[in-house]
Amino acid sequence: MDAISFEPPRGMRDFYPEDMIWRNRVFDAWRRAAQAYGFSPYDSCVVESLDLLQRKSGEEVSEQIYHFEDKSGRRLALRPEMTPTLARMVAARQGRLTFPIKWFAVAQCFRYERMTRGRKREHYQLNLDIIGESSVSAELEVMAAAADALSRMGMPADAYRIRVNNRALLSELLDRSGIAAKHHPAVFLALDKRGKISDEAIAELLREEGLDDAAVAKTFELLAVQTLDQAAELAGQDSPAIATLRELFALADIYGIADRLVFDIAVIRGLSYYTGIVFEAFDTAGKFRAIFGGGRYDNLLTTIGGDPTPAVGLGFGDVVVVEVLKDLLGETAAAVRHGVTIGYMEAAQREAAMRLARSLRDQGEEVDLALTKLKPKQFFSRASAGSAADAVYIGPDDVSAGQARRKHLETREETVIPLP
Ligand code: HAM
Repeated sequence: MDAISFEPPRGMRDFYPEDMIWRNRVFDAWRRAAQAYGFSPYDSCVVESLDLLQRKSGEEVSEQIYHFEDKSGRRLALRPEMTPTLARMVAARQGRLTFPIKWFAVAQCFRYERMTRGRKREHYQLNLDIIGESSVSAELEVMAAAADALSRMGMPADAYRIRVNNRALLSELLDRSGIAAKHHPAVFLALDKRGKISDEAIAELLREEGLDDAAVAKTFELLAVQTLDQAAELAGQDSPAIATLRELFALADIYGIADRLVFDIAVIRGLSYYTGIVFEAFDTAGKFRAIFGGGRYDNLLTTIGGDPTPAVGLGFGDVVVVEVLKDLLGETAAAVRHGVTIGYMEAAQREAAMRLARSLRDQGEEVDLALTKLKPKQFFSRASAGSAADAVYIGPDDVSAGQARRKHLETREETVIPLP
């Protein structure tokens, strides 16, 4: 028999304790921020029906689905994202829910991606969605909650930017260039590939969609727009899409996130269901891939058979943000010492150590008790390599005195504690 590899399948992830420290830091920040912004948790199974997930829209994600047939011939898949499942769950209860709803989930997602930095075949994603609200209040709440999660993780405000655009603005501009609405979704997906494939390859995609050379040139011209004012000149001062963006930027000030928002006409997003504001957060230095991304998707519920319902949401993955945080703060920045470790010198002190552990655990402390006797040097070197904040080492003299010293490992300060 061939030896089994110790590596997980390519692109899948093992989380050793040092990795869990980061993962927990991210998950805690996600949950706390989502709750601080009034989102309720929901969840579903990782396995979804393939029909729900498979869209004939030419999106990358539809080609990356891990799918299989179960023993009864059902076509199933591991979800590549949470949004179709959320739409399904909401549509299933549409008559009974009171809108708007604000829901969040930390969802494990699978995509058969080309493996590059920041891209795995398995990742966790915070999903924040507001369903049933068409004003930019919804965009502001999801963006500000994501920004709050980042600051809880220790990310400085100047270390990232949220790049914002509006697909409705692009649609208005494409209309003005004489490109019919039926071509817009394909144009969006082609333009989203910018930077990943050559401009020539994008032009080819646009020509395949039926755009002539003049229309292709006009499409590329739009991407040269740098500021919202320039966009407003092209779209006209009465443009509803510009008005929405201006309102969003103005209100962002009240949320305290205006310093992080920038208009960027090149942010389009690779999923076809977005209809309005779209946004993506990147590290300011531009070294990493998107930290989170989302937008407005007002038609998704109708495409799966639900009633027309406005919706906004975002997905915030765990892979890129940890890369960015490690780069900014250091590999070990997430490790915070906590709890107490207890050791003993000889078998004769074992019971005293166990009694102390029990008493501290009863008081709610996190206690790591040595499983065997240890020499002082061994114990203290393990303690400093471990995660405990304090250490208690019990020798024969401590047992006879009925007390021991509790040492704070970082400051080396000691306090005397009674042995129970
Ligand atoms: P997405 O842009 O495909 O959007 O993914 C959102 C985030 O998930 C990305 O910005 C990234 O942090 C992370 N992510 C995606 N794929 C991978 C991967 N292969 N490896 C590591 N991280 C990854 C969506 O999924 C939308 N459903 C978000 C949404 C929710 N829109 C509305 N509501």
